[in-house]
Amino acid sequence: MRGLVVLVTLACFTSAQHQTLIDYLERRLLAIEDRISLWHEQTTRYASELRELKQQMVSQLENLDKEKEILRINLDSVGTRVDRVERELDYLETQNGAQPCVDVDDKLIEQQVTLVKEKQKAKYAKLSDCRDMISSIKAMKILKRVGGPKGMWTKDTSRGSGKVYIFNGTDEDTIYEFATIQDFSRSSGMSLSKQLKLPSAWKGTGHVVYNNYVYYINQVEEVKVVKYDMKNNSVADSAVFPVQDHVPVYGLNPETAMDLAVDEEGLWAIYATRQNERHISLAKMDANSLDIEQMWDTNCPRDNAEAAFVICGTLYVVYNTKQPGRSRVQCVFDVNDMVTNEDAPLVYFPKRYGAHSSLKYNQQEQLLYAWDDGYQILYKLVMKKKLEV
Ligand SMILES: *[C@@H]1O[C@H](CO)[C@@H](O)[C@H](O)[C@H]1NC(C)=O
Ligand SMILES: *[C@@H]1O[C@H](CO)[C@@H](O)[C@H](O)[C@H]1NC(C)=O
Repeated sequence: MRGLVVLVTLACFTSAQHQTLIDYLERRLLAIEDRISLWHEQTTRYASELRELKQQMVSQLENLDKEKEILRINLDSVGTRVDRVERELDYLETQNGAQPCVDVDDKLIEQQVTLVKEKQKAKYAKLSDCRDMISSIKAMKILKRVGGPKGMWTKDTSRGSGKVYIFNGTDEDTIYEFATIQDFSRSSGMSLSKQLKLPSAWKGTGHVVYNNYVYYINQVEEVKVVKYDMKNNSVADSAVFPVQDHVPVYGLNPETAMDLAVDEEGLWAIYATRQNERHISLAKMDANSLDIEQMWDTNCPRDNAEAAFVICGTLYVVYNTKQPGRSRVQCVFDVNDMVTNEDAPLVYFPKRYGAHSSLKYNQQEQLLYAWDDGYQILYKLVMKKKLEV
């Protein structure tokens, strides 16, 4: 789709060895054309392919400004084919829903000849409209204490919804819905809430509420994600998570087999398996179909991990100690390879008496909804752009 056009147009400036790049592009396009013939089976793999392309673009941009004119002439011949592929990919995209984190920037095409070296940084940024990373925690607010030691709370992370949901405990089936955060604040206990009984019990604290659906973890023998439609109170879908031998994902929260997270790119699963039991794994899920789009083994240890969340495709794992001390983000994993552990700041949470049993990110508000020994806490995040070190 347009990611390709961005690739091609960016390539106008790229690479001293333009012919090599043209050849590379041709091969790449051929591969993609092949894939289109199989698009029915491959729409999910396609999202991963785009991510790879994007990574490759980032590295190729290094040589950006050399020989752009010559390259542009050569590119004309590829242009017609790109057009065709683009149309087919556009169609594919309408079948496939929104593409994560690939910015469509037509200006980039128009400006291709005028862009100058100083804009190098801006060009990186335009590869994606989703490029925030945490810089620090600015403030914390303790709203109240309505629950037991473990649980989670969150706002519906879709635009426009102000509803707040309380999951008290780690093995229950009734959630509490508040129309607004103000209702939650002034409610005595759960008095201003509406109760919602789910068709089965949730396990752990790894749930999310997204676009009027509750995605909760259910675990009998296998770990299952259940997608529950709150508009008509019915199960919209469910899927067994396709890995064997789950182990609890966070060393300090053994009730949570798997954790779900929502960010600007959609739905993620954070999990761990016996095969790679010292480290945390990450998967991108399709929020509509619950398909797995891609999986990664991260270098973030499970040991002493208490929670994690995802922002713009970067996993942040929060660590503590068995005797709760100050929680801190001490390991990050970026699926786009733009943030490494070295350039991620060591972010400390304000001092608390307990330990987090869940941390849920809200991308509209840039807040973390935290549950700490029954307290509902908000952390306000300060963001900066990736690649601005
Ligand atoms: C929340 O859970 C705790 C146990 O974990 C229980 O004691 C408490 O009554 C629950 N509160 C509500 C409002 O259900
Ligand atoms: C619930 O609503 C969705 C659309 O909003 C619909 O697709 C689904 O069939 C409905 N389920 C039931 C059980 O009515």
